[in-house]
Amino acid sequence: MIEVDSDNDTLCYCAGTTRQQIKKLLDDGIVDVDRISRITGAASGCGGCEFELQQLIEEHG
Ligand code: FES
Repeated sequence: MIEVDSDNDTLCYCAGTTRQQIKKLLDDGIVDVDRISRITGAASGCGGCEFELQQLIEEHG
C-alpha cells in the first residue's frame, strides 16, 4: 500500500516513525540524526530509512 499523504507516511518501518514526527522534531530545532533516532527510534533497526532521514534533514535545512 502506498500512502499518498506525504506528511503522514511512514519513514521508518522498523520503528513506525512517520515523516510528520520527524518534521516536528526538525521544527523544534532537533536536526541531529542520532538525536532523532534516539527519540523516535527511526534508523535504529535495519538502517534502510537512514538515507531518507538524512534527506529530510537536508531539505529542512
Ligand atoms: S526502516 Fe528505519 S531502521 Fe529499518
